[in-house]
Amino acid sequence: MNSRLNISLGRLRLQNPIIPASGTYGFGLEFAKLYDINCLGALCIKGTTVQPRYGNPSPRIAETEAGMLNSVGLQNPGVDKVTADILPRLRAVYHQPIVANISGFSIEEYVQLAKQMSDAEQVELIEVNISCPNVHNGGMAFGTDPSAAAEVTAAVKAVSDKPVFVKLSPNVTDITRIAIACEQAGADGLCLINTLLGMRIDLRTRKPVLANKYGGISGSCIFPLALRMVNQVSRVCQIPVIGCGGISTASDVIEMMMAGASAVEIGAANLTDPYVCMNIINELPQLMDKLGIDNLSDIIGITAR
Ligand SMILES: Cc1cc2nc3c(=O)[nH]c(=O)nc-3n(C[C@H](O)[C@H](O)[C@H](O)COP(=O)(O)O)c2cc1C
Repeated sequence: MNSRLNISLGRLRLQNPIIPASGTYGFGLEFAKLYDINCLGALCIKGTTVQPRYGNPSPRIAETEAGMLNSVGLQNPGVDKVTADILPRLRAVYHQPIVANISGFSIEEYVQLAKQMSDAEQVELIEVNISCPNVHNGGMAFGTDPSAAAEVTAAVKAVSDKPVFVKLSPNVTDITRIAIACEQAGADGLCLINTLLGMRIDLRTRKPVLANKYGGISGSCIFPLALRMVNQVSRVCQIPVIGCGGISTASDVIEMMMAGASAVEIGAANLTDPYVCMNIINELPQLMDKLGIDNLSDIIGITAR
């Protein structure tokens, strides 16, 4: 373990800033068969809902230049199964912090999920997804309106003993308004960004490639956009920001931290290279030497100041 990579997310200490993003790493158990996932800074589990969900109809993945579109629609076994069965199995092989990503379709559902995840001894941090573009009447509906975002944040905070980070949508005109609303409502931190809404058309059938018509764009094509939003938010908020969107290399991590991120989440890159998180952790010290960086924590927000 290399202490030069240590960072803090509020009261939580991580051995490094690398966190696989929700929905791109399952519950970590398949990846644990490939390498020792204890090298991760933390691990964010698949978005969990109150009821089990099969997700949206197929096809629900489409490729695009330097990225992908997905309309998975929060497929997961439901919070009871996750807390009773999956989290204990993950804890048996993984001993670093677990981030529980929760998605509700009403304030009551967010509250129920937050309570259950707060009670789950394996969970260190709750990430409230108010930004899923692939489900109707939920997720993003809360993430595009400052007062709705504040309402969810306050309701979740009221029932949670664990730090609460709110995951923001980029599908808004001014992300700082949503970020400030969440901070004022008591969020301990923010995570941004979730996917951008996009579309592909099959030229032969003249129909959308995705059965759901639209899907979320992720991957390296969104990196500059995510970087800009992280920079804007970290200039106006005091709480820590987890930067996410298009990160696939050690230099992307450093750039995202310079923009203001205290830690990063890596999403779509796990789907093309399952070893990407481990490789980035191994490559960071060498790149830091090259760039004259002693400790990663020194560069957080250096460009935002
Ligand atoms: C297949 C897939 C499933 C995802 N599922 C979730 C989810 O359940 N909850 C969530 O908050 N974000 C989900 N996301 C969004 C990612 O966590 C991440 O915010 C987004 O993909 C941008 O990062 P990236 O460009 O590194 O992928 C998903 C993304 C992908 C590609």
